[in-house]
Amino acid sequence: DWTMGAYREEAIARIREQVGDKQVICGLSGGVDSSVTALLLHQAIGDQLTCVFVNNGLLRKNEAEEVVAMFTENYKIKLVYADESELFLGELEGQDDPETKRKIIGRLFIDVFQKYADTIEGAEFLAQGTLYPDVIESVSFSGGPSVTIKSHHNVGGLPEKMGLKLVEPLRELFKDEVRILGRELGLPQSFIGRHPFPGPGLAIRCPGLITREKLAILREADAVYIDQIRKHGLYDEIWQAYVAILPVRTVGVMGDGRTYDYACAMRAVTSVDGMTADYYPFSHEFLGETATRIINEVKGINRVTYDITSKPPGTIEWE
Ligand code: XMP
Repeated sequence: DWTMGAYREEAIARIREQVGDKQVICGLSGGVDSSVTALLLHQAIGDQLTCVFVNNGLLRKNEAEEVVAMFTENYKIKLVYADESELFLGELEGQDDPETKRKIIGRLFIDVFQKYADTIEGAEFLAQGTLYPDVIESVSFSGGPSVTIKSHHNVGGLPEKMGLKLVEPLRELFKDEVRILGRELGLPQSFIGRHPFPGPGLAIRCPGLITREKLAILREADAVYIDQIRKHGLYDEIWQAYVAILPVRTVGVMGDGRTYDYACAMRAVTSVDGMTADYYPFSHEFLGETATRIINEVKGINRVTYDITSKPPGTIEWE
């Protein structure tokens, strides 16, 4: 009779056998897959694991601090914190095309990851949170016709380039099984139940030009929105929820004064796999209360809209 406890023991034994006494690097994003991968490796090989967390300047409010604290303070995992926000934001300056943004971010991520990985002495392995669906997808689509709507930033080819061997302990698992394994490993629910977050981060939630000012406003608005969703007990019913800051300022009134600030769009969808999605049917009360909170609490926003586009024809992200 198959249990996740037994799977975990087996996975740990396999990792030890594959890695021996060598060093392993793991890119940690704080998402479920990379978090479970890191934790499993840590339990298997302890200090032979070093995680690299890249701050690309496109993370949500408090995100870097929370991830770094969880893995260094709570789990005592060796972690290199690569704060490269200035590099990423500098290269993104003046860029407003979605695919160009993705390419810049993907290229810089590889450069940065490699730079930090090179400082980890004797590393021979790279751990990745590849899941079973990723394995099948790359097989069934190889060579076939493919339509690329958005080039997802992936780090394929990185291990070969760096001369590293891959460790992929989640290769046989589906997402829901990864969550069960995460629970088995003691990862808190706040990490296990996390909504997916795209590699390019807030860059694709800030349509058009990215500025530090817009990112700062976006972080605050997004935090209020997610707080509202959690307070109303809706977080786990939703696949993804976020705020996008729109590239337009609109006129409003507040007190006796005229305002001229950014408009934003709230987005929330339900989905099984991200391929199709329905907008989430919030109550009017929830929408009204949340819009009021965002406008009152976030300086720089004076208009809030709710995106009711499903996928297709929309996509989940705005870019
Ligand atoms: P779309 O916007 O294509 O998103 O409906 C489907 C899912 O993919 C995520 N997404 C990305 N993830 N790099 C990523 O790692 C990307 O460039 C990217 N674009 C979209 C999106 O958040 C949703 O979960």
